[in-house]
Amino acid sequence: MELTPGLSVTIRESTLVDAPEVNALYIDRKFDSEPGYSNFTKERIEWLCENGESRFCNLIEASQQYPECFFFWVAMYRDEIVGFTRAEALPGDFYVWWRGLTVSRDFEGQGVGRRLEAARRGWARSSDRPIRSLVIADNKRSMDFLQKQGFVRVDVFQNPTLENPICFSVMELGRSALRQPG
Ligand SMILES: CC(C)(COP(=O)(O)OP(=O)(O)OC[C@H]1O[C@@H](n2cnc3c(N)ncnc32)[C@H](O)[C@@H]1OP(=O)(O)O)[C@@H](O)C(=O)NCCC(=O)NCCS
Repeated sequence: MELTPGLSVTIRESTLVDAPEVNALYIDRKFDSEPGYSNFTKERIEWLCENGESRFCNLIEASQQYPECFFFWVAMYRDEIVGFTRAEALPGDFYVWWRGLTVSRDFEGQGVGRRLEAARRGWARSSDRPIRSLVIADNKRSMDFLQKQGFVRVDVFQNPTLENPICFSVMELGRSALRQPG
């Protein structure tokens, strides 16, 4: 899938002014990324509306201060944020962790996710570690997306601290695959 002719989407590092729009996009797409997630309640949305912006400010600030550990990029159409992605490569961790990739519903299926993913992958290459991503298996679109990117399911994970634990697929991209351009 390619961008609609004439649709000029650019990608760039995130800055603090992006936080409100990123939070709004995150909330808008949260249910799509976690279908059937019983913890995603009205109260949770209200909490995200009140606190999500400062959470994203902290994450963006971390990516500016420690760019080798935190990655946060956005996709722009004109002056509107139409996608974002982030990742972490913490010191001492065996893996790089994908922490989210979200594209606005109006811009899906036009290659925006793939472009953000390519930037994130380029960043991860220098860490020379395998990449892991937790995905809800029912999120078929996301599973398809990662599998097309070369990820394979290596495990399942349930967060034992949640009242209604969700089962995540643990998706992994090995070091050798990461070294290939893609
Ligand atoms: C998953 C997501 C990020 C994909 O972004 P996108 O911009 O639509 O993806 P792209 O257009 O770059 O397409 C890349 C791949 O996604 C899949 N895809 C795109 N549009 C699709 C559609 N309409 N139906 C099914 N799969 C589709 C395809 O596998 C496509 O492969 P291709 O390279 O052969 O065309 C986006 O759908 C999204 O934000 N979903 C909600 C949030 C979410 O689930 N995030 C977790 C992501 S791991």
